[in-house]
Amino acid sequence: MKQTPEISDVREFRAFLDAHGYDSATLSQRMGRARPPAAGEEQQMFDDSSEISTANVLIRLFLLGAPVDKVSIEEFIPAPVLEFCDQAGLFETSGDIVNGSIVIVPVEDLLFASDAFHMLGTEQASEFVLPASTHSANFLRLLTMRDPVKSALDLGCGCGIHALFAARHSITVVATDISPSAIWYTRFNAMLNGIDNVECLEGSLFEPVAERKFDLIVTNPPFVISPSESFVYRDNTMELDSFCQVLVGEAPRYLKLGGHLQMLCEWVEITGQSWQERITGWVRNCDAWILHTPPLLPASYVQQRSSDISGDAVNTGQPDTWLAYFEARDVRAVHPGMLTLRRRDGQNWLHIQNLTTDVVSEAGDVIADSIAAVDFLEACDDDSLLQATLSLADGVGAERLETDGNITGVYLKLNNALAVDAEIDGAVAAFLNLFNGQQSVQECIDQFGATTDADMGALRSDLLAILRMFVSRGFLVPVDV
Ligand SMILES: C[S@@+](CC[C@H](N)C(=O)[O-])C[C@H]1O[C@@H](n2cnc3c(N)ncnc32)[C@H](O)[C@@H]1O
Repeated sequence: MKQTPEISDVREFRAFLDAHGYDSATLSQRMGRARPPAAGEEQQMFDDSSEISTANVLIRLFLLGAPVDKVSIEEFIPAPVLEFCDQAGLFETSGDIVNGSIVIVPVEDLLFASDAFHMLGTEQASEFVLPASTHSANFLRLLTMRDPVKSALDLGCGCGIHALFAARHSITVVATDISPSAIWYTRFNAMLNGIDNVECLEGSLFEPVAERKFDLIVTNPPFVISPSESFVYRDNTMELDSFCQVLVGEAPRYLKLGGHLQMLCEWVEITGQSWQERITGWVRNCDAWILHTPPLLPASYVQQRSSDISGDAVNTGQPDTWLAYFEARDVRAVHPGMLTLRRRDGQNWLHIQNLTTDVVSEAGDVIADSIAAVDFLEACDDDSLLQATLSLADGVGAERLETDGNITGVYLKLNNALAVDAEIDGAVAAFLNLFNGQQSVQECIDQFGATTDADMGALRSDLLAILRMFVSRGFLVPVDV
């Protein structure tokens, strides 16, 4: 286990990294990317950092995880910084060669140290602490709601990415992990970024925070569904999706009223039970807003998850075992998604929204707006919805769909971070166009009804159902008049 360094030494190390352009903007400009290389990118990054300089020594050691000769290190890194790296266990020296034993990944203006990839090929691989550059970590980071809160919890903190971002809008943050190494990295990274409101506690699930309640819980748990127990960052010992089920089931005890849990999750669809039924059955005493991403059939799931960051080589022979595990349990598909739960007394609601594109910009405010939209709909019976005034949201774009020169419909796209879209027919498009924030829903329905000879009673109930769907997805927003 690495030693906990002195805060003053970590600050000096950070100042040295800053002074030599070890940050998102400079690395992106210099290398075309500010993250460790993906498979196949290593040689290019190696070539791009070939000129010997302090910046490139740092890039090779801490971004690329490539060996550097001791002479260059001693020439380009001042003795006190070298001594610190050595004592804190950031280097491994073997003869004349030095290897970084950590990677340091910039995310926005924060830096995150975690294990170096070459650890995956060693006996310590099972304890690997994920870098902050993974898709899942950043997907959850972008989806996290950033309203100011008093208390936040990052459960399964790894390198601390969610804890440290939460520290910016929370008075206090608790970061927990079952892995002592993850706790070390989160503490180190808090120091590296000058953050002092994160408490790091080792332990499983909610055990380290028993009796405490939070405004926000963020978790990217080890959700992979498999018989494997190879990696603590990914695998868990519970049957199928039970780890996520336990988290969802226990979360309300640790949430203040009105508090939110946001978690990445995967759950199975098994013969005889729909995927909606399964996830719905997990939720208690909370409203649930679920962002559902495309499901994977067992064969694709096994292929993707058994050879992710840990690489094919480590997993040789696993796919058959994984497939047999799914088959024996009648798993038809695996559904990935992000759950937002809000603890609330009374009759709770559950809303599922499909996500069809990747999330590449901050989407927390879109989620907050989506929850507010479902609250609005839940509070409106049909009569009060008829009295409401709605307007098309800012950023709704419409494109005509044509086949062989004939207009077949309209493609609607909401220009927000979730890029919500819908294909509708011309009649629905004409109906939605009436919503300009000036007249009530009743008036819009009457105006639309006058253009058709449909039965008004049936038309009204169809149009109200359509409106509910478009409000819940953010295309229409209520207007205070
Ligand atoms: C997918 S990683 C996420 C790490 C980090 N939060 C991120 O987003 O990059 C899952 C984390 O959960 C931790 N973990 C595994 N089992 C756990 C348990 N039973 N209780 C708490 N944490 C656990 C792992 O050590 C790992 O750091």
